[in-house]
Amino acid sequence: ANIDKGPYAHYMLKEIYEQPGVISETLEGRIHKGRLLEASFGHETTALLDKTKHVQIVACGTSYHAGLVAKYWLEEVGVGCSVEVASEYRYRKVVVPEGSLLITISQSGETADTLAALRDSCSKGYIGSLTVCNVPESSLVRESDVCFMTRAGTEIGVASTKAFTTQLVALRLLMIALARRKGLTPEEEETMVNELHSLPRQVEVVLELADKIQIMAEDFSDKHNALFLGRGAFYPVAMEGALKLKEISYIHAEAYPAGELKHGPLALVDETMPVVCALPDDPLLEKVLSNLQEVRARGGELFLFSDHKVNIGLDRYQSLTLADIYPGTAPIVYSIPLQLLAYHVALLKGTDVDQPRNLAKSVTVE
Ligand code: G6P
Repeated sequence: ANIDKGPYAHYMLKEIYEQPGVISETLEGRIHKGRLLEASFGHETTALLDKTKHVQIVACGTSYHAGLVAKYWLEEVGVGCSVEVASEYRYRKVVVPEGSLLITISQSGETADTLAALRDSCSKGYIGSLTVCNVPESSLVRESDVCFMTRAGTEIGVASTKAFTTQLVALRLLMIALARRKGLTPEEEETMVNELHSLPRQVEVVLELADKIQIMAEDFSDKHNALFLGRGAFYPVAMEGALKLKEISYIHAEAYPAGELKHGPLALVDETMPVVCALPDDPLLEKVLSNLQEVRARGGELFLFSDHKVNIGLDRYQSLTLADIYPGTAPIVYSIPLQLLAYHVALLKGTDVDQPRNLAKSVTVE
């Protein structure tokens, strides 16, 4: 592609820094004065959402992680949601609950497995298909009943960044639309919309932490493994953080729901195993903290990203302070430092950040 990297060393870094702008773009014309502008979705989409009782999300890679975050959001407002990677979904027998909407999520709109899942869905009894996609003229957009475009612009780095966060923004807007149908009050809606509205600024603030994260990255460059922990919607955020690290730095990274630590991965923890964790100020905080105590007790080094309201009684190795985080959009905010961490580790390791070995930007064959 004929796109300039500008002052950035890599497309990935440029794309990370584009996030405040493309998140604004994705919100443009879709929210106004504390309200979701549903008319902007188009009549066909709103008619489909009226009939939606359950959602099945199908996607691959990073887009799958966006779907997993959305599951936490949708179920919170009373909409049942299942999420599956397309390569599995397409080859198994599925039971489709009544009133199910198929949602595919894809940056490229050309991922072979996701497209195949959509094509097969016609015979499975869905009320319709919606794609959250970044490329307007793509196959998924053409073949889905309706689409909801992210506006991340062209993404060149193989490791997806801005496509992911704009997918989350789009999914949050869809969540608000579905929540309206479940009795969301205007006050609650205003809160959710305002949270989205302040997101670009929050992301800008987080990006200012890059220097600190760069220092953190130095502790990873000689490591062979890393563990990413999270709970609730931050579990998929951890999965995405681990994926970023393995994709571009070639360090083996695994994400675990923090509560599962004691059922296996704790056996791996020692001073050679950095443990990364997003630690938002939420109802599961105390539980995550006790999980982290277990890591610390076994000599594991903690790399925490936390909220300024969180008072951590751990001798944490590194911590970052992010201000003003709202629970609804926090998964988006906390994804940013993990992207920066992966980028800086890869930079220190001297890998090909934009074009990691063996990987393709878009997997158009099975
Ligand atoms: C490839 C890319 C990933 C991407 C995945 C799904 O594996 O390297 O970055 O998340 O495909 O692609 P899609 O275009 O469907 O989001």
